[in-house]
Amino acid sequence: MNKQFDVAVIGAGAAGMMCAAVAGQRGKRVVLIDHASRLAEKIRISGGGRCNFTNLHAGTANFLSENPHFCKSALSRYTPQDFLSLMKRHGIAWHEKHKGQLFCDDSAEDIIRMLKAECDAGKVQWRMPCAVDDVSPAEGGGYVLKTSSGEISAENVVIATGGLSIPKIGATDFAHKIARQFGIKVIEPRPALVPLTFDAKSWEPFVPLSGISLEVDIETGEKKSKIVFREDLLFTHKGLSGPGVLQISSYWQPGTPIRINLLPELDVAEDLIQAKTMTKKNLANYLAQYLPARLVDGLLAAHGFDGDLKIPDMQDKRLRALGEKLNRWELVPDGSEGYRKAEVTRGGIDTRALSQQSMMATKVPGLYFIGEAVDVTGWLGGFNFQWAWASGSAAGAAL
Ligand code: FDA
Repeated sequence: MNKQFDVAVIGAGAAGMMCAAVAGQRGKRVVLIDHASRLAEKIRISGGGRCNFTNLHAGTANFLSENPHFCKSALSRYTPQDFLSLMKRHGIAWHEKHKGQLFCDDSAEDIIRMLKAECDAGKVQWRMPCAVDDVSPAEGGGYVLKTSSGEISAENVVIATGGLSIPKIGATDFAHKIARQFGIKVIEPRPALVPLTFDAKSWEPFVPLSGISLEVDIETGEKKSKIVFREDLLFTHKGLSGPGVLQISSYWQPGTPIRINLLPELDVAEDLIQAKTMTKKNLANYLAQYLPARLVDGLLAAHGFDGDLKIPDMQDKRLRALGEKLNRWELVPDGSEGYRKAEVTRGGIDTRALSQQSMMATKVPGLYFIGEAVDVTGWLGGFNFQWAWASGSAAGAAL
């Protein structure tokens, strides 16, 4: 059978465009298919419109996966420096915000334009908007795609349709369906990098704190599985958000607690007990030297402490109980704000079914999975795009 294309890439997001450009520039006949009418919407809205496009410190430790070493090979073959070289060639200015997070100076649109130009340089053909209804093995090898733009045949198919987050801009479970169709396991998908919620009644006392943000230590898990982030936390009407909570949400298991240290640099109980002989202040005024007064008032009320009590009049036992609430506040979320608000999806295509060199399904020759569709989930801070570039490039180079 005379194949129309060497490669059909389904999903023209971060990973799909990178893969199509790399394969096209290697002389492959590539078609890039997407059902959306606007190109790369997730890149456009990312990083508040400036796209946190990579992280200088990207390494395997910044990714979650049931197969934690899988991402190492692709990440080491396409590094943040490689992406910066590409940006330099396109004259795109950038800056570091903090912790190695790199953003465009101007707009995320610059990244989209750059990837589009790279695809053009590889003579990539586009089908967009175009829905793919079916992907089946063709007689004599390769694949046939039934699409809203007609039948497409290709020697290889790359699934780059991303995760489930933000369905209103076109996220679908296409990758999972294709995986199941070809007998490839899917690790249960879950919203990640997502605000956490609490049942309305238990959260009621904390609702007045909504809008307050502060740097905390936030952790989840026990012993070996324990993970801690020092990042900002934000109180919301429904629960907790902010970078610290988004990070911990990826590791949080439903039904288990998270623990928050609101004053990571201070042993609050020890400090309060020592203060008994050194201050005549009441509890609320004393704590207001460490935390915003509105937060102190709200927390004391929510935890059942009288802020008007003079510290010297308080029993050590009570001060220790308060210290525990401020240094080790344990609470059990009842869920998350779900895919509507999640930045990414954890879980996805089981990497044990893929080659770490090429991203090809080892038992299904010619079928590849890249980007967020795969069970490799990055931390907040540019890591997810780095995975999209690295996995896209790995497949593009192997096709
Ligand atoms: P991506 O989602 O980019 O692309 C998938 C493409 O497939 C889409 O174009 C979609 O239309 C198409 N598609 C889906 N189903 C299809 C179907 N059935 N048929 C045809 N096409 C289909 N990451 C980061 O590193 N830094 C950041 O600053 C941010 N910021 C950010 C903000 C917000 C609000 C969100 C939601 C996410 C982020 N992310 C992020 C995460 C990042 O956007 C994400 O991990 C990557 O875009 C994943 O790239 P992919 O190419 O795998 O999927």
